[in-house]
Amino acid sequence: MTQSTVTPINFTRGIPADESYPLAEVAECAQAVLTGSHALETMRYGTGFGYGPLREALAAREGASLEQVIVGNGSLSFIDLMGVSILQAGDTVLVESPTYDRVLTLLRRHGINAVGIPLEPDGINIAALEEALKTHQPKLLYLIADFQNPSGATMSLEKRQKVLELAEQHDFKVLEDAPYRPLRYRGTQLPSLRELLPARVMQMSSFTKQISPGVRVGSLIGPQPLIAKLAQAANDTYISAAFLGQATVAEFLQRGLLEPQLERLRQLYGPRLEAIVAALRQHLPNAEFIEPDGGFFLSVTLPEGTSGADLQAKAKTAGLTLSDGSGFFVNPADGNRFLRLPFCALTPIELEEGVKRLASIVG
Ligand SMILES: Cc1ncc(COP(=O)(O)O)c(C=O)c1O
Repeated sequence: MTQSTVTPINFTRGIPADESYPLAEVAECAQAVLTGSHALETMRYGTGFGYGPLREALAAREGASLEQVIVGNGSLSFIDLMGVSILQAGDTVLVESPTYDRVLTLLRRHGINAVGIPLEPDGINIAALEEALKTHQPKLLYLIADFQNPSGATMSLEKRQKVLELAEQHDFKVLEDAPYRPLRYRGTQLPSLRELLPARVMQMSSFTKQISPGVRVGSLIGPQPLIAKLAQAANDTYISAAFLGQATVAEFLQRGLLEPQLERLRQLYGPRLEAIVAALRQHLPNAEFIEPDGGFFLSVTLPEGTSGADLQAKAKTAGLTLSDGSGFFVNPADGNRFLRLPFCALTPIELEEGVKRLASIVG
């Protein structure tokens, strides 16, 4: 096959599959919003806390008070808002290593000292966390306990409890980023960190992976004084968020459309996870990876002697697009053999073909 006949397979972005978007339902919900009794509210400016009826729905669902809920333009922007409200330049934030690359970018943008704690298949390495706490007094520990981006790891119950114990002892808050939590394809759900100790935890979530990135709706639930500071920062930054999207999501929830949508996503993505795991075992038996139980990502550590930079160059000719693994690490050199493979936006056939191509360039 010449290069021109090879359809490229893209393993870079953790985006939902195009066929997952509930277009007809979203259209009906948006129509209902714009012709309903809240239409004018969605056209006007509101507060930095977000659209009231959606906050109320999330507060009721999550067992929180209204003052503990903020809804914004996606969830990532809360990190940016933290950088101008509850965090200051020079503060330390502990993160899993690897972690979500965009969070590292935002922390750095605000002059915050990100300290990486190695991640294991069952979550953050507790001994390393304890060691770091001897020399650092962090304001925050940022982690993705369920189906982590990028590794796919899920933190065990024991580690969740231990992390919260340490948060109490050393007086820091935990930022639990949970956009993948509803997308479990097998096994049993564990309690969230927020469920275990709400006074210490801010839980961030998003409708990006549940409905679509385009609705641009994310939420954060946490202690009231912190939420008030974030809402003020939001108001100072963009006055109020995009209420039309938030109202459409509120209508989606109110009509009971979310659970069937999540079930469709699990049916669509579960087989994709199985396909990539089977392909890796068959074609790249020497690559190490954590087998996820849900979410969007699986990441492999390639065999010794493989270099990320060489691989990027070879990938192009093999019809593959790969992301740079070093971006997920506080210390970029730690990610030289690390490769994140998002599996949700590719079909099982594309996943198998992609892994075969990868195997052909890893050698
Ligand atoms: C862990 C994590 N947090 C946050 C986000 C961003 O979500 P949003 O679209 O709500 O800003 C992502 C998106 O990939 C993510 O993986």
